[in-house]
Amino acid sequence: MKIIIVNNAKDAGEKAARLVIKEIKRKQNLVLGLATGKTMISFYKTLIRLINNRKIDISRIRTFNLDEYIGLSLNDRRSLRYYMDKNFFTKVDIKKEKIHFLDGKAKNKKRECARYEMKIKDAGGIDLQILGIGQDGHIGFNEPHSSFKSKTREVMLSEITRKNNAKFFGSADKVPRRALTMGIDTIMSAKKIILLAFGKNKAEIVARAVDGAVSEEVPASVLQKHKDIIFVLDKNAGSELEKG
Ligand code: F6R
Repeated sequence: MKIIIVNNAKDAGEKAARLVIKEIKRKQNLVLGLATGKTMISFYKTLIRLINNRKIDISRIRTFNLDEYIGLSLNDRRSLRYYMDKNFFTKVDIKKEKIHFLDGKAKNKKRECARYEMKIKDAGGIDLQILGIGQDGHIGFNEPHSSFKSKTREVMLSEITRKNNAKFFGSADKVPRRALTMGIDTIMSAKKIILLAFGKNKAEIVARAVDGAVSEEVPASVLQKHKDIIFVLDKNAGSELEKG
């Protein structure tokens, strides 16, 4: 496990974006797992700048996003797909057919999740997965007590997650109760993982994920078992880690 602590969210986004560029240069048809949320904003900003300024060819990369709310269509301004279009996909020269997303409107959720697992497998597996972390320790939308063996599936969102995402919906009770998410085992199968976290409000959960017991109570603690995981933190998010 590698931990990189930088001064602030902007520097952390910059660091993570540079690591992604390095991987794209190494493998032009990289399979990149992506996340949404507040944390990712500075990361996508830098990634867009680096790709466009340095004329990095990303026409061959394939992307798979972690999750989507159930009931929202691609074009719904509150969907995670809309977030990605707005904050990344429309700002770079990425091929639409190489973008993969869970369909929150799919009638048969089980079949949709199986389709997604198959697509990831057909792509050769995820080379690099980007993650944020929820205040309850979730990764993707795998809330506490999700099985470490879980695959892509339908889940219920916790109250704390819905509260934290209220700003995108106007209020917590308008946040969908259910979502589709890559499972913990799906995430752990990625060859390399970068987790980003910023701010004091993430310090305690980051410490539990990094230094605490590996337990399904804290889904992100499973990452201690991954052989190529980098935590990119700002000073605040890293402030409760054990020293040394
Ligand atoms: C989003 C996702 C979530 C977020 C997490 C942190 O696609 O999978 O696990 O990474 O909820 O969200 P923010 O960055 O908004 O604190």
